[in-house]
Amino acid sequence: MRQRRPAQKDRRSWKPLPAKRPNTPERLEVPKRVRLPPMPTHVVPPEPGTWVWTCRAGFEAQLFEELAWLELRPTLVSHAIITSLPPGDARPTFARTGFCVDAVAESPRAAFEALPQGEALKLQVWSPDTDAGNARAAACSAWDDTISALRAEAGFPDVATPWKAWEAGAWLGQVCLLGDRVALVGKVRARDAHSLSAGGRARMKRTGEAPSRAAMKLDEALEWYGVSPGTGDVCVDLGSAPGGWTRRLVERGARVWSVDPAKLAPDLASHGKVRHFTTSAFEFAPPEPADWLFCDMAWRPLEVAQLLAKWARNRWATQLVSNIKLPMKDKLPTLARVRHTLEEGGWTRVQMRQLYHDRDEITVSARRRV
Ligand SMILES: C[S@@+](CC[C@H](N)C(=O)[O-])C[C@H]1O[C@@H](n2cnc3c(N)ncnc32)[C@H](O)[C@@H]1O
Repeated sequence: MRQRRPAQKDRRSWKPLPAKRPNTPERLEVPKRVRLPPMPTHVVPPEPGTWVWTCRAGFEAQLFEELAWLELRPTLVSHAIITSLPPGDARPTFARTGFCVDAVAESPRAAFEALPQGEALKLQVWSPDTDAGNARAAACSAWDDTISALRAEAGFPDVATPWKAWEAGAWLGQVCLLGDRVALVGKVRARDAHSLSAGGRARMKRTGEAPSRAAMKLDEALEWYGVSPGTGDVCVDLGSAPGGWTRRLVERGARVWSVDPAKLAPDLASHGKVRHFTTSAFEFAPPEPADWLFCDMAWRPLEVAQLLAKWARNRWATQLVSNIKLPMKDKLPTLARVRHTLEEGGWTRVQMRQLYHDRDEITVSARRRV
């Protein structure tokens, strides 16, 4: 007897699935796009228990969409300030820093009372990095002075620097001034902090020095990464001219293979620890594997990602620090593709952050999978 053919509905379940679309970076599916709502006409301070984030002014749309993709229900509060649910382990790329709001304070005394009592902390009073926020610098200093005096009077221990707080496992006390008389108050363990700098403004300029912005970008990137090349390490610097990064790497004792068709500063070009390859990074192959791959090439992000992926596949470097330029409107989908390309190539622990010295760009760090 002929078997009855399964109904159309059932047949679908045993038919082989259609071949999956290749997951090429151009085709990589990203979550549904989320648009930034209009800027509120007045600031409504968030409820205690909410997470507050700050970003570079003008990048609210990127941070908002990123938080929405993480399903953290973002709310736009004002320029450079967005709130969300607590992020767990997530580290949004476009957030400079963030903390959990414990209280909304209308005076320095109220802020003092909302901070951890009797525990060691490094106080950080800041305002968003916007024209209006920066005009509040004097108010920030005044709140800082008053809160510090109240803490001293109460005999509460203060920690001298954020790094000392990190070493001691202490708090960074957060006071974010949204207006002259309203502040969000909270705390974050220095070791869990998104940034050790107040408001995420990691200014790298050293006294008496006039370094290039590029050099400051690298200093900040290495501080964020937490590991640096040292004496004897071999570093490759792709897109190195005029040499801000190469100079910083040499100062740390590394040997540098500097790759750029453009000229290096004369003192670097003749430096004993620098070898300049005047070729395109896309055609360059290292004489032998290097310890570190640095890249600050002014080039299209997906092509740079493919180049960096090639370095991992060929086992040409162990650690990666790269700047990725993002001049396009659709930054988040591009970053998702960059991450995918790097991970497919063999880079692991890929971290991405728009650092303080980054403009229309972000910094990526990673290690090669062993
Ligand atoms: C932002 S600058 C790099 C600045 C450098 N990190 C410093 O600290 O001085 C970008 C560099 O990328 C280089 N570049 C662009 N395309 C390149 C390629 N295909 N290969 C190598 N370098 C390239 C440019 O010549 C330019 O010098």
